[in-house]
Amino acid sequence: MTTRFDEFKHRVEAREARIGIIGMGYVGLPLALLFSEERFQVTGFDVDDAKVETLNAGGSYIVRILPESIQQAQRAGFRATSDYSEIARMDAVIICVPTPLDEYHAPFLDFVTGTVESMAPFVHDGLLIVLESTTYPGTTEELVVPRLEAGNPHGLKVARTLEESGLHVAFSPEREDPGNETVARNDIPKVVGGCGPAATELASALYGTIFRRIVPVSSPAVAEMTKLLENIYRCVNIALVNELKQLCMRMGIDIHEVIGAAKTKPFGFQAFYPGPGLGGHCIPIDPFYLSWKAKQFDFRTRFIELAGEINTFMPYFVIDQTTAALNKLRKPLNGSKILVLGLAYKRDIDDLRESPSLTIIELLREKGANVAYNDPYFPKVGHGRHYDLNMTNTPLENLGQYDAVMIVTDHSDYDYRAIVEQSQLVVDTRNATKNIDSAKIVRC
Ligand SMILES: NC(=O)c1ccc[n+]([C@@H]2O[C@H](COP(=O)([O-])OP(=O)(O)OC[C@H]3O[C@@H](n4cnc5c(N)ncnc54)[C@H](O)[C@@H]3O)[C@@H](O)[C@H]2O)c1
Repeated sequence: MTTRFDEFKHRVEAREARIGIIGMGYVGLPLALLFSEERFQVTGFDVDDAKVETLNAGGSYIVRILPESIQQAQRAGFRATSDYSEIARMDAVIICVPTPLDEYHAPFLDFVTGTVESMAPFVHDGLLIVLESTTYPGTTEELVVPRLEAGNPHGLKVARTLEESGLHVAFSPEREDPGNETVARNDIPKVVGGCGPAATELASALYGTIFRRIVPVSSPAVAEMTKLLENIYRCVNIALVNELKQLCMRMGIDIHEVIGAAKTKPFGFQAFYPGPGLGGHCIPIDPFYLSWKAKQFDFRTRFIELAGEINTFMPYFVIDQTTAALNKLRKPLNGSKILVLGLAYKRDIDDLRESPSLTIIELLREKGANVAYNDPYFPKVGHGRHYDLNMTNTPLENLGQYDAVMIVTDHSDYDYRAIVEQSQLVVDTRNATKNIDSAKIVRC
């Protein structure tokens, strides 16, 4: 007898399964391209009409995704839409919408709940729905499942076994590391936790076509918590080296030399590096999803709070160090001309979400500095949820006119030797000038 699982698996293996990906951003678009490369019919859903239009015109709005890749996907059947009724044609839907924090540092899940409410009227028996957005343990069972069950017109429930009919729901965290070329995306093991074994099996069968290794876990909550553990581990270790950096500076020890020596240990140590503060859509945000949820259980996540405190302080530390360096030259920060090098939250990417550069520029301006920036990835920067800069990119020339040049993002294309030679003072927050010996450099 052919089971529902056999049918789904057959459609997947024959590449007849139609896949919908909701949220055509940094996570959803590359995922759509991976499935498309595997000859699946992929539909990308997004509420942003400009993105839908760009994709359907064969263009891209993410620097590392070339328009040719979109056009190749189009030839394999990829198209974008903002019309949720097309969910009805899908065999599987993967949700990759944003999960930011609100102004009180609490989880802001309106994108997830809004997506689920919009798609619920169009779901059908046997549909696989996977949430990939990073969130606290419990989201899939507590927010996604009830909305799907209440919002669909057929009275469908979530199927917990392979024998039951209904919807199959799972959580599978995205583990991409933007800009990291050392691991191919399909070599990153994929953790999958379904609401019952049926959903885990179906989701594993689907992801198994593009990821070499699937790691099934017993529930969506385990999968949700796995992602948070990974990011909290990074957040806490970055805070540790940020704190030790400040101590090392007082003691006249180079923290980078220490880390370089420590990482020669072949076991039990992983290198993390200090910097001007956390950035990106994950590390500064995700840990607070867990600390918020923990309160429901009358529990305080002290490591997360302490790491958050240290990491949030880092842009202020950079300003203090810059002020002190200018002071040595008998210059006040107020009125000084400062060039900030790099807006992106990390090297060689076009993403400035939560970037410490934004905070640093705002702090410099507050203190009366005259600030310009250079970043080849951002011709201009306007305003976002947490900043309002309204600036355009300054060419990397005539550096001697600035009282200080601050390296906040260590893009590989910069010629750091030339930058140091031409500048009066260089504040290096990334150890980008490690091989340059000059009294003009202040490393912090
Ligand atoms: N960017 C990363 O490197 C990364 C890595 C791991 C996990 N994540 C997680 O993945 C999720 C998505 O992140 P991202 O970086 O791709 O975000 P993004 O902002 O780049 O993309 C999200 C997309 O979703 C769209 N969207 C919002 N609401 C929608 C709706 N109701 N229906 C359809 N589309 C909608 C937006 O227009 C946008 O295009 C987040 O939870 C994030 O924490 C991101």
